[in-house]
Amino acid sequence: MNQEKVFLPILLGTNRKGRESEKVAKWLSEKMSDREDVETKLFDVRDFDLPQDDYGTSIGKDFPEWRDAIVRADGLVVVVPEYNHGYPGSLKSVLDLLLKEYIHKAVGLVGVSAGPWGGARVVEACVPMVRELGLAVTFTDLNFPIVKDKFDENGKLLDEAYNKRTADFLDELIWMSRALRWGRENLPSKHHQ
Ligand SMILES: Cc1cc2nc3c(=O)[nH]c(=O)nc-3n(C[C@H](O)[C@H](O)[C@H](O)COP(=O)(O)O)c2cc1C
Repeated sequence: MNQEKVFLPILLGTNRKGRESEKVAKWLSEKMSDREDVETKLFDVRDFDLPQDDYGTSIGKDFPEWRDAIVRADGLVVVVPEYNHGYPGSLKSVLDLLLKEYIHKAVGLVGVSAGPWGGARVVEACVPMVRELGLAVTFTDLNFPIVKDKFDENGKLLDEAYNKRTADFLDELIWMSRALRWGRENLPSKHHQ
C-alpha cells in the first residue's frame, strides 16, 4: 500500500470580520502539520480576489495557487461555519472555481457554529454540493458547537477531547485519500488520465 504523505489543503470558508472559524482552521492546520503522514496548506477565502462580473470555472485559471494545490491534493479539509443552516456564499464561490481537479479526491468537513449543533446542519448541506464536485466525503466530521467557548484569546483550544476526535477525523480522511489516490493511479477512468 502507498504510505507516502498525503497532501490535504485546508479551506477556511468565511470572510466575515471577527470570524471564529479562523481559530478552528489555524488550530487544525497546526495539528495537521504535526503529523508525519500529512502535508497541508491553509487557504482563506479572503485571499481570493473574486470579480463581481464573472464566476465559476472560466476564471479558475486566475487563481493558479489554488488550482495547482487542488491538482496536487489527495483530499481537502473544508472549515465551514453555519450561516442560516447553510454555507457561506464566499465558500461556494471559491469551490466553484474548479471542477475536474476535485474528482476522485476525499473531503473532510469541519462544522463551526454559535449554536449547540456544531454545524451539523451545514455539514449535511455541504454533502450534496461536494458530491457534485466529484469529491468523496468522509463519514467522520469534526464539529465545533458554541465555538466562542472552545478557544482562549490566543487561539489555544480549551477542550482536550478534540485531540482524539481530530486524530480520528484525520485518520479516516487520510485512509480515504490514500484509497482514492491508489484508484486514480491504477484504475482507468475517463475523469482523469
Ligand atoms: C449570516 C449568519 C447566519 C448564522 N446562522 C447561524 C445558524 O443557522 N446556526 C448557528 O448555530 N449559528 C449561526 N450563525 C452564527 C455562526 O455560526 C457563528 O458566527 C460562528 O462563530 C461561526 O461563524 P464565524 O466563523 O463567522 O464566526 C450565523 C452567523 C451569521 C453571520
